Amino acid sequence: MLVWSKIISANEQSSIEERFLNMGQTNAVIRKLSGSKKLHIEVYLKNKKEAQILKKELGGKVNKLEYKNWAKINASSNRPLIKIRDKILITDNSDAKQINKIKRQYPKKIVISIPAALAFGTGDHATTSTCLRMLVDIAKEYQKGNEKWSFCDIGLGTGILPITASLMGAFKVEGFDFDPEAIAIAKRNVIINLRNKINIYEQDLFDWSPKKGASWNVITANIFANVLNPNLKKIWNRVADNGYLLLSGILEEHHNSVLQTAQKNGLSVPKLYCKGKWVSFKFNKII
Ligand SMILES: C[S@@+](CC[C@H](N)C(=O)[O-])C[C@H]1O[C@@H](n2cnc3c(N)ncnc32)[C@H](O)[C@@H]1O
Repeated sequence: MLVWSKIISANEQSSIEERFLNMGQTNAVIRKLSGSKKLHIEVYLKNKKEAQILKKELGGKVNKLEYKNWAKINASSNRPLIKIRDKILITDNSDAKQINKIKRQYPKKIVISIPAALAFGTGDHATTSTCLRMLVDIAKEYQKGNEKWSFCDIGLGTGILPITASLMGAFKVEGFDFDPEAIAIAKRNVIINLRNKINIYEQDLFDWSPKKGASWNVITANIFANVLNPNLKKIWNRVADNGYLLLSGILEEHHNSVLQTAQKNGLSVPKLYCKGKWVSFKFNKII
């Protein structure tokens, strides 16, 4: 395993994210350096060729990922807690004692541990946090109405969305990703955070073909527009009546293409949420 890394200033973040996006690179872990406005970016790579492409395109350096570093990635860190609405706290600490300490400190909150790892979705990225906020709001509505609801995340990364859905009361939860590394990490995160089992599996969205009649009350997909658009109709068909489809990870300049595809395929008119360069959509399938 190799690790490409670079230190950048905070105002370079969106342009570098855009470069990653264009390169189809979704494994970047971005951390704020404490006491500084600089950011440390790492991308974990399996082959030398990919590492060389990153270095050529973006500068930075490439090192071998030693076991020592891997252990460090998974160890506790001092990143501040990420708050989602008044309900969720996300820590990157994976130490059970520390997690319990946070739970005791905030007894009314749901505490989720997502250690920084090789998959996308630690909660601090705008696209994930917007998805989480939309999800928490919908879950609260279902809770208020004492309604049973099911959930599926397309491209689950660390598993942060299915874990949140399960802790917010969804009765049937699943998620898939075409990246086996993401599946392994999500499974580990499920063990850290949940007592119940959820259905996590390796699957490419382009080949996704759920059982006849299968549908979910809430489906999320925090995925690039070029992956979403050709699959949007298929995804929408699997949203249960009166359910929700939450889309995120769409760059501002691509959001019209998603809106057009949605309109062409008879999706409802969505609510839009913008954060920086990112646009998220909330579709409600009112029947
Ligand atoms: C931006 S991350 C989102 C992770 C997490 N759901 C979140 O919101 O933080 C996108 C994920 O989609 C996965 N992905 C991209 N294209 C896919 C495809 N065609 N089929 C399945 N997963 C895909 C990537 O491997 C990555 O883990």
